[in-house]
Amino acid sequence: MSLLSDESDDKYTTDTLFCTLCLIMTNHLWELFDPEIYVRDNYVDLHDEDRRIIDILVPYFEKKLSGGCRVLDIGTGPNLYPLMAISPYASTIDCLEISSRNIDFLTRQLHKPSVYWNAFSAYMSSLNIRYKKRSIARLRQNVVIRKGSILKRPDKAYDVVMMFFCAESITSSALEFEVACDNFIRSAKPKGMFVAAFMENSCGYSVGPIHFPAYPVHKKLLECVFTPHCDSVTMYHIPRAKEPLRDGYTGMVLLVGTKK
Ligand SMILES: C[S@@+](CC[C@H](N)C(=O)[O-])C[C@H]1O[C@@H](n2cnc3c(N)ncnc32)[C@H](O)[C@@H]1O
Repeated sequence: MSLLSDESDDKYTTDTLFCTLCLIMTNHLWELFDPEIYVRDNYVDLHDEDRRIIDILVPYFEKKLSGGCRVLDIGTGPNLYPLMAISPYASTIDCLEISSRNIDFLTRQLHKPSVYWNAFSAYMSSLNIRYKKRSIARLRQNVVIRKGSILKRPDKAYDVVMMFFCAESITSSALEFEVACDNFIRSAKPKGMFVAAFMENSCGYSVGPIHFPAYPVHKKLLECVFTPHCDSVTMYHIPRAKEPLRDGYTGMVLLVGTKK
């Protein structure tokens, strides 16, 4: 992996060209991504694997953050819970998303959150009283949705960057995965915090009739990708729940840490 290495301009140009071509070829795919079906499959109930992620994130944010952070969430899709989890500590949350359908869905959710997010909110409140004072509807005051791609170089650096099931769930190409992780880390400022969740060993997933690709990742690979660029990184293995979300993955990996 060549993440963040000082590579030659030639290699950078080739990678950028490759990713631009991939973007052109796959752009239409994300317009076929149906957020209603995706949410029905993943978030209408608070699943054990997400519960475990929340168990880790809520105390981590409380310990490490005091508030007023500029936050970026990449590939937000229709998932509100990472935004809910960071919101007490954020002054702004930019959501970078490629799909117009997901942007429309997210915009509607921010204006009128569906009831299923209440279970996430109640669970966060049970772990930290701070969340009791935050209504989900207040999220829209801080969130700015930006249409764009993780495969393009970030133009600014954030205090906190987050990415839930994006870099490994948008491609089966090692290079695209690598570029996505590279840009993710680059979008944090020096000593900034990053939080990333990955499906482990995913062989792709279906949203309705459409199959979406994945790049299979595991703790060792993520360690090689991220460790050289971090002051600190902790990796958590989230075991596959007794009732998994679907076939074709072995669990999840959650990374929290600080960039160099
Ligand atoms: C598997 S979904 C994850 C959604 C959500 N973050 C979650 O936790 O469930 C992948 C998301 O990445 C978005 N996406 C795909 N390609 C992207 C790109 N090049 N840049 C930014 N987002 C992208 C998709 O539209 C989709 O919302």
